Amino acid sequence: MNVILLGPPGAGKGTQASRLVETRNMVQLSTGDMLRAAVAAGTQIGLEAKAVMEAGELVSDEIVDGILSARLDEADIARGFILDGYPRTAVQAASLDRLLGQKGLALDHVIELEVDEDSLVDRITGRFTCARCNAPYHDRYKQPAGAGVCDICGSTEFKRRADDNEEAVRTRMAEYRAKTAPILPHYEAQGIVWRVDGMAAIDAVSAAIDAILEGGD
Ligand code: AP5
Repeated sequence: MNVILLGPPGAGKGTQASRLVETRNMVQLSTGDMLRAAVAAGTQIGLEAKAVMEAGELVSDEIVDGILSARLDEADIARGFILDGYPRTAVQAASLDRLLGQKGLALDHVIELEVDEDSLVDRITGRFTCARCNAPYHDRYKQPAGAGVCDICGSTEFKRRADDNEEAVRTRMAEYRAKTAPILPHYEAQGIVWRVDGMAAIDAVSAAIDAILEGGD
């Protein structure tokens, strides 16, 4: 089962993708995580991407297509993958079609998380993640069960993203509206788009996604 999760910043793509990793042993392919890893490692790609990401703008299609193509060659992809944050432009959607064709892979579902953008600033500015395993948390909506200890890996180190400030979030939302939302008709034409209420509680969103993956609606 191969899935794209689509939605504006803060819609819950990362949260739901990490649940599918836990419950279905699928592989999460977050281009945002891959780019942040490159920034942290100080690679050439990281150096090129850092300022663009901090401003909330999109990194070039060429860079992102390159890192995704390499990742799709790894063996664990056979377990089924969740694309979280890719594709984000018409050029990337066309590249993905080409890459999947070359690698003998196919998409089963494109799930759009529908959200009220005004609430997303609150979601994003309260967000933090485990510094070791990247599990997502939130100051108000999802604290670790044991205070200060990651539920997944037990780490006591957490981090916040450099682009999780209001100005960058507004730019990220504008980028989503202008460049990412317009790719949905490409997948609607294939009859594989589903819409889920991303404003529902996290468990309810997970249940709705599970129903889609189980073949219902
Ligand atoms: P990326 O890392 O992909 O960030 P994003 O799309 O802006 O999405 P977020 O990670 O902010 O949100 P999310 O939908 O995953 O929400 P989350 O689950 O964390 O990209 C970052 C940057 O990298 C881009 O701006 C760009 O520069 C670059 N980039 C990445 N991919 C690229 C590409 N393909 N092309 C070009 N550039 C690219 O949830 C948010 C918070 O809300 C969490 O705290 C969570 O606990 C909470 N929450 C989640 N769901 C709910 C719920 N249902 N109810 C209440 N709280 C909830």
